[in-house]
Amino acid sequence: MLIAASGLAREVLSIIRGSDQYRVVGFLDDSSVIQGRLVGGVNVLGTIAEAALYNYPQFLICVGSGTGRQQIAERLAHQGITRERFATVLDPGVRVPPGCTVGYGSILLSNVVLTADVTLGAHVVAMPQVTLTHDDAVEDFATLCAGVTLGGGVRIGRAAYLGMNSSIRQGLAIGAEAVIGMGASVLQDVPAGETWAGVPAKKLYDGLQLVSGDPAEGREA
Ligand SMILES: CC(C)(COP(=O)(O)OP(=O)(O)OC[C@H]1O[C@@H](n2cnc3c(N)ncnc32)[C@H](O)[C@@H]1OP(=O)(O)O)[C@@H](O)C(=O)NCCC(=O)NCCS
Repeated sequence: MLIAASGLAREVLSIIRGSDQYRVVGFLDDSSVIQGRLVGGVNVLGTIAEAALYNYPQFLICVGSGTGRQQIAERLAHQGITRERFATVLDPGVRVPPGCTVGYGSILLSNVVLTADVTLGAHVVAMPQVTLTHDDAVEDFATLCAGVTLGGGVRIGRAAYLGMNSSIRQGLAIGAEAVIGMGASVLQDVPAGETWAGVPAKKLYDGLQLVSGDPAEGREA
């Protein structure tokens, strides 16, 4: 059962249809306008509040933002849906070498590379062409958009969001719920909750507050 009839869900569907890992039962989605309709050829069967009515299938939360996935996982937990009820979907071409681990509820799209001793938590999403190198550790609900590259020994905090083609220098830590802009080149640790962008990356937002000045120049008020 796929939760949220999103673009990510249709990407997951294309993986599942190209392999025999799973059979999709349907979608659960809170949008009233798509109830009873087909999305990507799959029926929208009901809302997330109805998940506990389905006793047998596994679930997969297909929301692009990690904080969104976390909120839905919390709602499902309140319905008694626990970790063993979540599927893990990997593109069939993705190899998980010995010493690497991928947590439940995670989604790894095409051409994701894990080199050695990489740890991915639960409900992590790695989009196409993400490269994770030795000793990287990615916490639950993190999102790595297409083309993200992590140097060795990088730590990505819970529900952090790394935009397309951003790169993180080896040994750095990105804090929980931090956002890294697309194309950023991150050369220092990023504290939790902050938004950084640019080359080299500078702080753009502090929480929800825009830092005034030109982020490309890295000036701050
Ligand atoms: C960083 C980001 C989150 C900021 O988004 P936002 O809050 O909507 O910011 P805005 O577009 O209003 O831009 C604010 C300022 O930051 C700059 N900026 C935005 N994104 C930037 C980036 N990636 N690199 C450098 N500067 C950036 C803008 O030029 C703007 O500068 P200005 O105030 O001098 O005009 C967003 O631009 C981003 O990169 N998101 C990731 C997108 C992505 O990877 N999507 C994948 C979908 S699968």
